[in-house]
Amino acid sequence: MPLQSIYLDHSATTPLHSEVLESMMPFLADQHGNPGSLHRAGRVARKAVEQARSQVASLIHAEPREILFTGSGTEANNLILTGLHSPSEPQRSLPLCSAIEHHSVLDPTRNARAKQQQSEAFLPVNSIGLIEPEALAEAFSSKPRLVSVMFANNEIGTIQPLDAIIERSHQAGILVHTDAVQAVGKIPIDVRHLAIDALTISAHKIHGPKGIGACFVKHGVGIRPMMRGGAQENGRRAGTENVAGIVGFGTAAALASRQLHDWRHVATLRDQLESTLINSIPRSWINGAQGPRLPHISNIAFRGIEGEPVMLALDAEGIAVGTGAACSSGSLDPSHVLLAMGQSYEEAHAAIRISLSQNTSEEELQSLCHKLPPIIERLRTV
Ligand SMILES: Cc1ncc(COP(=O)(O)O)c(C=O)c1O
Repeated sequence: MPLQSIYLDHSATTPLHSEVLESMMPFLADQHGNPGSLHRAGRVARKAVEQARSQVASLIHAEPREILFTGSGTEANNLILTGLHSPSEPQRSLPLCSAIEHHSVLDPTRNARAKQQQSEAFLPVNSIGLIEPEALAEAFSSKPRLVSVMFANNEIGTIQPLDAIIERSHQAGILVHTDAVQAVGKIPIDVRHLAIDALTISAHKIHGPKGIGACFVKHGVGIRPMMRGGAQENGRRAGTENVAGIVGFGTAAALASRQLHDWRHVATLRDQLESTLINSIPRSWINGAQGPRLPHISNIAFRGIEGEPVMLALDAEGIAVGTGAACSSGSLDPSHVLLAMGQSYEEAHAAIRISLSQNTSEEELQSLCHKLPPIIERLRTV
């Protein structure tokens, strides 16, 4: 089996940047202080954590005190969905989210609604994967505490009309959260300008380490902790800080800020890739391409075959792609995102996700364009 030499699954995770690793090394080796300790070793760790907090805050134009570190994007989403509340109305408890959210938003939303004997209800999307802000009025009749709409989707890359969603939600007195795990570092995000109440980020999607995430919680908005114990993170997330992970996250955020202007060529490569594949593979289509999209994600489907064997055949050729969200790829369920867009079970099973980075080369994509058509032809004949 050839070595995995072409990696096109950057929406699942990204390789650690060498500068990130370098910044983490002292905190994995000799700088072992606990940021909660008052002695010198503790103060060194505290300073490093606070510098990282400023770096993460700066990437989204937040204040450092509005950044709360968590153990993952998943934890940040759970924390917000279960605990974000307006201090003036802490009794309102029902969250609401769109039908195409990541499971770390969908599941806590489902859970919270079930606990209150409320039926499942999700904000619908149209056939290109976008929420139509006009649909909000009906959903708001249940008086939710919070609406969660992802900044951009992890399977198809579509960017939601957040401005309009936030405006309508705030008019109805409802807080808004956005899961920006896929969007952060790819497109400029300014939480002040957006007037969002909470937002989720994960380090490993921007060349940082795995197992470290963060949420932005607007100053003045309440958050009930999920984890109880120590007073870390201002009493909002107990547990000794993952200092090395946080430092790596800070460096990754600083790098992402520096390279934010550099995604146009990635979109160009992605568009060329799509047109080559569509022209060379009959009965194939791109999901979500009709709306605004992140520059690095392509979701392509092939009628009559499932995405999983395509992914496995490419893997055998040394090319790594995804089939939707990495964390649900062990399941045989069709994509809930594509189903919500009105596709049939067969169509929603038929897609692979190709996701690029700023380092993806034209040669790598040419190799994919060369190897994929015969794979599809072979799979269609078995
Ligand atoms: C949109 C979205 N939200 C949340 C997550 C979860 O982040 P983490 O892997 O840090 O738990 C992911 C990961 O794939 C994601 O794509």
